[in-house]
Amino acid sequence: MRTPLIAGNWKLFKTLAEATALINELAPLVNDVKDVEIVVAPVFTAISTVVSAAGKTAVRVAAQDCYWEDEGAFTGEVSPKLLKDVGCSHVIIGHSERRQYFGETDDTVNRKTKAAIRTGLTVLLCVGESLAQRESNDTFKVIEAQLRGGLADIPAAELPHIVIAYEPVWAIGTGKTASDTQAQEVHAFIRALVAQIYSPSEADAVRILYGGSVKPENINGLMSQPDIDGALVGGASLKAESFAGIIRFKG
Ligand code: 13P
Repeated sequence: MRTPLIAGNWKLFKTLAEATALINELAPLVNDVKDVEIVVAPVFTAISTVVSAAGKTAVRVAAQDCYWEDEGAFTGEVSPKLLKDVGCSHVIIGHSERRQYFGETDDTVNRKTKAAIRTGLTVLLCVGESLAQRESNDTFKVIEAQLRGGLADIPAAELPHIVIAYEPVWAIGTGKTASDTQAQEVHAFIRALVAQIYSPSEADAVRILYGGSVKPENINGLMSQPDIDGALVGGASLKAESFAGIIRFKG
């Protein structure tokens, strides 16, 4: 069985004080939740603080991006090795905002994913189509290219260190969630593609998260779909109560 994973992507929000306060408020609300992995992804500058605040709670910490070299003359970059060193267990790679605004490509996603896995981090590998791509019926083509590109040359043995996150760009920060069936349709497609690239047993085991305007009000419907294994949450992860409401989707 696939353990559900609920991850909060804090994007470019939260000072150190705000980040600490959020963890302190969240932890008691979710301490008794069993069998759900909880991850938060603060900005780089808050990672160390959040790792300390999360301490012995069930909350794990992700970075929002990384570079693919361990070290060197790469001004402004942060390596998987340093993320591991500061206490991260996960890293988000290929978020649509990085693809849209910062020149991320399937090739850089692939390099970063390989480097992160090599370092022992679990990768939340993001894919998703834009509104124009959906409207021109290119959703599956786009997802397939992003997934094949992102997973290129990654052996099956590494797949347990990858979680796929499907985030339709048109649903991010818009309040417009994909319907349960729209999301399930793409998740099933992704799982079938993983079966094709790897094998049915790898496809069965891989977790596929949905992201895009996830809230306590819509998480149940999404989680009741057979191929949705969790959520990557933006806005609603910035408040303890709403993030806890999502984590506690089982009731
Ligand atoms: P929202 O939940 O704010 O739509 O953001 C989703 C997202 O981009 C998570 O990575």
